[in-house]
Amino acid sequence: MIRKLSLIAGPGGRNPLGSTIVLAVLAAIAQGTAAILIVPTIRALFASPTGAVRWLVVLAVAFLVQAVLLSLATWDGFKGSLRIIDVMHERLGHRLVKLPQSWFDGRAPARASQITVSGTMFVATVSMDVIVPLIVDLAVPATIAVGALVIDRRLGLALITSCLVVWVSARLSSWAETRAEERVRVQQLDTDQRLLEFARNQVALRSAGVRGTAYEPLADGIENQRRAMRRAVAASITGSIVQSVVTDCVFGATVSLAVWLLLGGADTATMIALIGLVAQFIGPLRLLASFAVTLRKAEEEVGAVQELLDTPVMPEPDEPRPVPTDARLSFDDVRFGYDADAPVLDGLSAQIPARAMTAVVGPSGSGKTTMLRLIPRFWDVDSGSVRIGGVDVREIGEDALHRSMSMIFQDVYLFDDTLEANVRFGDPEASPERLTEAMRRARVDEIAERLPEGARTRVGEGGLLLSGGERQRVSIARALLRRAPVVLCDEPTSALDWSTRRAVQDALEQLRSGSTLVVIAHELSTIRGADQILVLDRGRIVQHGRHDGLIAEGGMYGRFWDERARSASWRIGRHEASADERTPKDEQTPKNDQAPEDEQTSAGENENEN
Ligand SMILES: Nc1ncnc2c1ncn2[C@@H]1O[C@H](COP(=O)(O)OP(=O)(O)OP(=O)(O)O)[C@@H](O)[C@H]1O
Ligand SMILES: [Mg+2]
Repeated sequence: MIRKLSLIAGPGGRNPLGSTIVLAVLAAIAQGTAAILIVPTIRALFASPTGAVRWLVVLAVAFLVQAVLLSLATWDGFKGSLRIIDVMHERLGHRLVKLPQSWFDGRAPARASQITVSGTMFVATVSMDVIVPLIVDLAVPATIAVGALVIDRRLGLALITSCLVVWVSARLSSWAETRAEERVRVQQLDTDQRLLEFARNQVALRSAGVRGTAYEPLADGIENQRRAMRRAVAASITGSIVQSVVTDCVFGATVSLAVWLLLGGADTATMIALIGLVAQFIGPLRLLASFAVTLRKAEEEVGAVQELLDTPVMPEPDEPRPVPTDARLSFDDVRFGYDADAPVLDGLSAQIPARAMTAVVGPSGSGKTTMLRLIPRFWDVDSGSVRIGGVDVREIGEDALHRSMSMIFQDVYLFDDTLEANVRFGDPEASPERLTEAMRRARVDEIAERLPEGARTRVGEGGLLLSGGERQRVSIARALLRRAPVVLCDEPTSALDWSTRRAVQDALEQLRSGSTLVVIAHELSTIRGADQILVLDRGRIVQHGRHDGLIAEGGMYGRFWDERARSASWRIGRHEASADERTPKDEQTPKNDQAPEDEQTSAGENENEN
C-alpha cells in the first residue's frame, strides 16, 4: 500500500508518508525497548529497591522518548494525509479532463466518482488513522521478540513464532473479507447503474405500468446486493472470531512457556517480568488484526486510483498545430466503429465548405451523430482522417480544437449557476451588450422573463428548472456568443416548442455566413436552404449536392423527400398555416418541392425521418 502511495505521489515518487513511517518505527522501537527494560527493572526491585532507581530513570526516559516520537509521527501522518488528498485530487482531476469521450459511456464514471470522492478520503483517513498505529503495533512486538531473544533464547523464538502465526491468520481472514467486500462493491455499482436507468426511464416505465419492484433489473440488483452484503458480514464475523481465538491461543501458549521456564529454574522476579512482557507483546498483535481489513480496502482504493491514472488518454500531438483560419472540413475515407467488429462509418468521404451550411440527412442509425462526434475528437477514427483546413484534427492540440468549435447538441446539460452565467460560458470575455444580444437572438430573454430573478435566476443542477427546449436555447445563445469557426448542430427532432425551433432556425441563419456550419437536419426548411446536403446511409455518403439537384437525381434523397412531404401533407388538415412560421426560403422554393406545412408540424410529430 505504501509503495502504491509513493507511485501515486507523482513524478519523483517521493513517499508522502516517508517521514511518518521513520518516526513511527523509532517510536515503536522506543516503546518495545521500554517494555524490555521492565525485566531488569523488576529484577532490580526484587534485589534492592535503591539499586532499582537507576533502572526506573532509564525506563522513564524510554517512555518519554516514545511519547514524543509518537506525537511527532501522528502529526506528520496528519500532514501526510492532507498531502495525499491534494496529490490524488490534482492528478485525478488532470486525468479525468483528458479521458476520451468513449470512457464516459460505460460504467467507469460511476466508479470514478466513487474513487475521487469517497476513495481518496478513505485512503487519506487510513493513512492518518491506521498507518502509524499499524507500524507501532508491528514494530513493538518485533522489538520485544528480539529483546526476549537476549533475555531467553527459547522465549524469544516462541514470541517470533507467535508473530508469524498471528500474521498468517490475519492475512487469511482479511483475504476472505476483502473478497466478500469486493463482491458487495461490484454489486453496488450494478445497482447504482440500474437505479439511474430506472430514474431516466420513468416516463416509459410508468406508461407501461411498471413500478420500482416490478422493474426486474433493479429488483434483481437489490436482491443480489443484499445477498453479497450478508456474505460480507458473515465473512467479517468469522474473521474476527478466528483472529481472537488465534491471538488468545498464542497468549496462552507463551504464558505457559514462561511458567514452564520458571519450573525449569528461572527466579520469581524474571517470571513476573516475562509474563508482563508477553502481555505487552500480545496487546499490539490483537489490535493488528483489526487493521488488516481496513488496510486491504485502502490498498484496493489506492490500486483503483492508480488504475484510473493509468487509463489511456487521447494521444496529444508533440508539437500541436494551430487551427487553420480556413475552417473547411474534410473526411477522407473514414472508418470508425464503437466496437472493433461493428463499423459505423465505413469509408466515409466528404468535403464541407467554410462559411456555409451543410445539412446531413439519412436514416436513423446511419451514423450522422457519430460523424459529427469525430470532428471534436470525442472519438478518434480507426482509419482515414478528419481535417480542418487541411490539418488532421489529431495534429491540433485538444484545447485549441475545442475552442474553435461550438456544439449545439440535443442533450444539453447546464451548470448549476445563473441563466446568464450559463450563456456567458460561451465566451467569458464577451461584453454585456453582446451577451444581451445573444440571449435575445436565441430567445433566452423569453425564458428570463418568466423566472423569478430574471437572467440571474439559478437554473438548478443540470438546468433542471428549464425545459429541454429552453436548455437548448441556452446552448444556442452560447454558440452565438462564441462565434466559433466551426459550429456543429444536431437539430432538435421532437418535443420542442415552436419558440425553440424558431431560435434554432434563426441561429443557423446567422451562423452560416461566418462559420463552417454542419447540421444534422430534421426541419425540411433547413435541409432545403442548405448550401450542401450530405445523404448518409450505412456509414457512407451516398449522395451530395443542393436540394434541387438531388431531387432531380432521385435516388435515396428523392425517396426521403417524398416520404417527408407525404407525412407532412396529412398533417396540414390539423394545423393552420401561419405566415409567421414560414421562413423566407419557403416562399422562394418551387411549388413541387415545397412542404411549408413542415414549419407548422407540432412538437413530437416529425419522428418519421429519424
Ligand atoms: N456510444 C455508443 N456506443 C456504441 N454504439 C453506439 C454509440 N453511439 C451510437 N452507437 C451506434 O452507432 C450507430 C450509429 O449511431 P448514430 O447515433 O451515429 O446514428 P444517427 O444517424 O445519428 O441516428 P439518429 O438519427 O437516430 O440519431 C448505431 O447503430 C448506434 O447504435
Ligand atoms: Mg443522431
